[in-house]
Amino acid sequence: MTATMEAESVLDGLATSLRPGRIARVPDPSPTYVSRLAALGGHRSDFQVFDYAHAHHNNVLIEGPTGLGKTSAVIAWAGRNGKPFYAVSSNVAIDPSQLFGKFVPDGIGGFRWQDGPVTDLVRHGGVLLINEINFLPERISTVLFSLLDSRREITLLDHEGEVITAHRDLLIVGDLNPDYEGTRPLNKALRNRFAIQMSWEYDDAIERQLVRGSSLRELAALLRRAQHDGEVDAPVSTGMLVEFEQIAAGLGLDAAIGNLVNHFPTEEERQAVNVVISAMLMNLEADYDTEVSR
Ligand SMILES: Nc1ncnc2c1ncn2[C@@H]1O[C@H](COP(=O)(O)OP(=O)(O)OP(=O)(O)O)[C@@H](O)[C@H]1O
Ligand SMILES: [Mg+2]
Repeated sequence: MTATMEAESVLDGLATSLRPGRIARVPDPSPTYVSRLAALGGHRSDFQVFDYAHAHHNNVLIEGPTGLGKTSAVIAWAGRNGKPFYAVSSNVAIDPSQLFGKFVPDGIGGFRWQDGPVTDLVRHGGVLLINEINFLPERISTVLFSLLDSRREITLLDHEGEVITAHRDLLIVGDLNPDYEGTRPLNKALRNRFAIQMSWEYDDAIERQLVRGSSLRELAALLRRAQHDGEVDAPVSTGMLVEFEQIAAGLGLDAAIGNLVNHFPTEEERQAVNVVISAMLMNLEADYDTEVSR
């Protein structure tokens, strides 16, 4: 991208984000987000991949287990680039009008069309995240098919069949968690619409920046090994480690430990987790400066 194109795109982003009546909002620039350095293999960071995808109108798919920063990455990129952001959550109850728009009373006895947040982004640009895209209900995915392929357009059947071609400033990201219980594979037609497909794992370099205590990172490694060996089911996410330290600081180490154990739903898992924690307890106490009464 040339400097002029870059400047144009920034100005365009600002203009759209300040437009009154926009539904999708520009997130905070998220100073706490730690960028992922090898997001696509090699040495390209997550933000470099998003920059590229945005410039080339490529859709991006992020696959990876829970709480490793998929959503945070997209929000952070949107915030830093001043782009309005909206996340579609793929729940079965979602009604297309919540995303694409509906007629609302105009206050003078009639009705006027009001864009939903997805239509708003398609019309004016921004960042659209489709969460858990493998669970997207069919009545939503059928509308999005033509947006995700080279047509880059949506048809609003409820609005006299209006066809909107996507603004050139639209970035579309889908995410999915391959480990969720009851998960299902992403259908091929949808997957093929994502030119860029990233597969992420918990990242040691990121966790070293986010998690102060080395004992907690070691504990996470042991619990992840236990999950790999089938001793526990629930994954230990980056988010859980961040929360552990916040709770340890606010409520004490014993509360943080109790809370961590409660993330594992079955009694067998909790016992296995407690055994691992007991082995690490002295180191945890040293890092978090308290003695746990057990
Ligand atoms: N790279 C990161 N920088 C800063 N915080 C992070 C990062 N990765 C994970 N986190 C922490 O983990 C929490 C969960 O992250 P996030 O919701 O983005 O995960 P996710 O991969 O989208 O999970 P899910 O699949 O459950 O939706 C965040 O609120 C943050 O505290
Ligand atoms: Mg998420």
